[in-house]
Amino acid sequence: MGRSQLFASLAILAGLSGTPGFAGAAYESVKIEAGKTLFDAECHRCHADNSSDPSYGPSLSGIVGRAAGTHEGYDYSEALSNAPIVWTPAALRAWMEDNTGFMPGTKMRHVGITDRTVQDFILSYLATLAE
Ligand code: HEC
Repeated sequence: MGRSQLFASLAILAGLSGTPGFAGAAYESVKIEAGKTLFDAECHRCHADNSSDPSYGPSLSGIVGRAAGTHEGYDYSEALSNAPIVWTPAALRAWMEDNTGFMPGTKMRHVGITDRTVQDFILSYLATLAE
């Protein structure tokens, strides 16, 4: 699915989700699918989504709820390895929005995903990645 097609279907779904009777579980599974598409476009070239594939950045398997800078064997920047934070959904939103502002000194290049709906979709997908 192309990005513009994706956003068109997401806009329809966002409308539907407010419709009485629209199944919440179906909406959640579509969010996860959309999140995977966005993850593939924005994150996957640097991040594995399982703990065995090698990747340039740390694997994001089990990232929701994980302490920052703790993926076994990854050579983190000093900033990230010393950061006293846990990757809650709120922290992940702040990171996607402006990682270099959120954590000066990180070696992840800047991303600026400010659309809350896009953040929601990526978060839904990240939450499915078990450690
Ligand atoms: C150009 C490569 C690149 C892209 C694209 C990228 N990242 Fe990263 N990411 C990194 C690197 C490198 C690090 C390690 C940074 C450090 O050590 O300071 C990192 C670190 C992280 C961390 C901290 C992980 C931990 O173990 O504490 C999270 C969370 C993260 N990235 C999420 C994302 C998400 C979500 C996306 C897509 C929206 C994304 N990244 C896109 C390279 C990238």
